[in-house]
Amino acid sequence: MKRFPEGKELTPHNKEYRANARKYYGMIRELSARYKDKEYGRTLLTKYDDVKATVRGKELSVKAKYSQSDSYMRRVAANGLDIHEGETAYEPPLVLLDDPDHRRVRSLMGKAFTPRAIEGMRQRIEEITKYLLSQIRGKKRIDLVRHFIGPLPTQVILDMMGMAHVSVQDFKSWSEDILMGYDPERGKSVQKRLRSAYLQMSRVFKKEVEARRAQPGEDLISSMVRAQEKDDKLNDLEIISLCTQLMVAGNVTTSDLMANGLFALMNNPNAQNKLTSDLTLIEHAVEEMLRFDCPISETARIVKSDAEVNGCPVHKGETLTASLGAANHDPTKFENPHVFDIEREANDHLGFGSGIHVCLGAPLARLEVQIALKLLLEQYPNIKLNPDNPPVRRVLPFFSGFTRLDVCLE
Ligand code: HEM
Repeated sequence: MKRFPEGKELTPHNKEYRANARKYYGMIRELSARYKDKEYGRTLLTKYDDVKATVRGKELSVKAKYSQSDSYMRRVAANGLDIHEGETAYEPPLVLLDDPDHRRVRSLMGKAFTPRAIEGMRQRIEEITKYLLSQIRGKKRIDLVRHFIGPLPTQVILDMMGMAHVSVQDFKSWSEDILMGYDPERGKSVQKRLRSAYLQMSRVFKKEVEARRAQPGEDLISSMVRAQEKDDKLNDLEIISLCTQLMVAGNVTTSDLMANGLFALMNNPNAQNKLTSDLTLIEHAVEEMLRFDCPISETARIVKSDAEVNGCPVHKGETLTASLGAANHDPTKFENPHVFDIEREANDHLGFGSGIHVCLGAPLARLEVQIALKLLLEQYPNIKLNPDNPPVRRVLPFFSGFTRLDVCLE
């Protein structure tokens, strides 16, 4: 019998998977919608209803410590950051907290991320986008990730934090290094870079937090410093950890959505024509980009005690990998799931997850991507992939994105 792929083969470390994850989602779903991947010690879920029930599962945990010792989650969690070193110690980010800790921190953060607060960022996002576009004016062929897509979300989140004075490039490359902490295959050198990036980033945030305590302003860090609900304050380590998470989650994923979305658009000339001749479709188009190639392609939950997920038994210690990417291409949920349809109706995708951990930054990410792509396509409706320099996908399990996207702008 033909052996089915497992573990690393089901990640972008496998060149074929990297080029065509959708083919793999379909293959796995056909074999078993609840696929036992022995190499990574996990159950991989690919059906929309299973994936949704898993990320929403109240009895499930996000903590790797509850997983069996053969689960890849143990390797992901052994990121070397939970060691107290000098002035810098580590608190797990929001996405790795269970209730009641999660509820407490999320409700303190929620206020800074209401749709109204985010709408207040519109003008600034437009200014940053226009500035970056002015920097590429006249150029015919560029790497869009380096010159436009990469710096934009980093600049936006730094602005929100009241840190317009620091180096965007530093924060961008530290974020990329920290994200590698999600790779169970990472070697020693990557581990070293990740640790160094985390320490450097958190040192800067520590100073910023101290400065806001002395003199608060109207920015995101000041609102975290002020945040108080009942008698629960965020402590300094929690604020630093949140800043790091907001920085990393807020920039790499948003850049990836722009790159993945543009890649899909440039590969679908009809969709590109339709959108560039009617840019009021941008909101719809961005939702389809989130469904078609979502930046966080997989997430995980651990079963704390025997339970049921979507009517099926799951067992204590089991790691459930919820493939958001596969769910978004489940033919029982989406008609013609592999067609990139910017006018798709009822697009109930899972690109931002669901349940208590649903993406905190979703309104911000949506606004940024809508503004950036609209302004870019207004100027360059005929933007195309550069046939001489093929795009380069990021080699990072559970994430989907590009590190290079070379385009022709004329
Ligand atoms: C297109 C861009 C983005 C995508 C696709 C995305 C996707 C996601 C997903 C799928 C989750 C849930 C993970 C899980 O259930 O395990 C999540 C959580 C989260 N995201 Fe995003 N995200 C994006 C942008 C942002 C931005 C801009 C921010 C903030 C500035 C942000 C902050 C967060 C935080 C803090 C969480 C954890 C929420 C919690 O645990 O309660 N994300 N994101």
